[in-house]
Amino acid sequence: MRTTINQIKEMKQKGEKITMLTAYDYSTAKIVDEVGIPLILVGDSLGMVVLGYESTIPVTMDEMIHHTKAVVRGTKQAMVIGDMPFMTYHVSVDDALRNAARFIQEGGAQAVKLEGGVTVAEKVRRIMECGIPVMGHIGLTPQSIHQLGGFKVQGKTPEAAVRMLKDAQALDEAGAFAIVLETVPAPLATLITQEISIPTIGIGAGIGCDGQVQIINDMLGSFTDFIPKHAKQYAKLADIIRAAVTEYDNEVKAGTFPTDKQSFSIDESILAELTKGSRVSY
Ligand code: KIV
Repeated sequence: MRTTINQIKEMKQKGEKITMLTAYDYSTAKIVDEVGIPLILVGDSLGMVVLGYESTIPVTMDEMIHHTKAVVRGTKQAMVIGDMPFMTYHVSVDDALRNAARFIQEGGAQAVKLEGGVTVAEKVRRIMECGIPVMGHIGLTPQSIHQLGGFKVQGKTPEAAVRMLKDAQALDEAGAFAIVLETVPAPLATLITQEISIPTIGIGAGIGCDGQVQIINDMLGSFTDFIPKHAKQYAKLADIIRAAVTEYDNEVKAGTFPTDKQSFSIDESILAELTKGSRVSY
């Protein structure tokens, strides 16, 4: 049985911290799931850390569905959340419903996430009414990066802080089961967490949130373009990969890989039969 939205909501009530991680492929998702992480987000950060785009904006529904399917195949216990890409829920409620449904029907996800507060609350309500759990996402919303003017801390002025609280309350009232708070001053994130009934999942939003999310490539140190301030590297996978690839390259060039251990044998008599009368001899 996978994690349910009720279990996530109960964790907030009991004061149990909620861990969430992104994953984009079968093998990684399998490990994350085996550890017991309850929420796995197939984030549209896929665009940057896996597909090499400059932002999340070019990511398409087809790309998200492709990776969501892989993550679902690798997991048994986690709730898999599909991240709705740019402009797949903005134009109309119909669009939002159709695309949210694709994550569930085609992708096999159990929930979707979308960016925005008051402006998307109606869409959140309608998706929820169709039986699809929705996670909100406010603060630094990367799909609006051009409007925000870069990856900056959000909610720093009194007006922006009030707007963010209202966004969180609107998502809560619309029926979202949790909200990601991204790059928000820690005291503001704590206040929002106390003011709403659903869990907040922070990324660059301090310790006062109900849970935390990290982009797995950041926390494993495999994404090397830049290290966001909110990321902690629990491993330096890029260094490990670089060292392993270099060793492999050296061994192939030196003729020391493969050895008998990685090779397969055949009965000598079969080879002898093959080479009978031919110029090839072994
Ligand atoms: O796309 C993503 O990975 C996200 C996280 C930063 C929450 O939205």
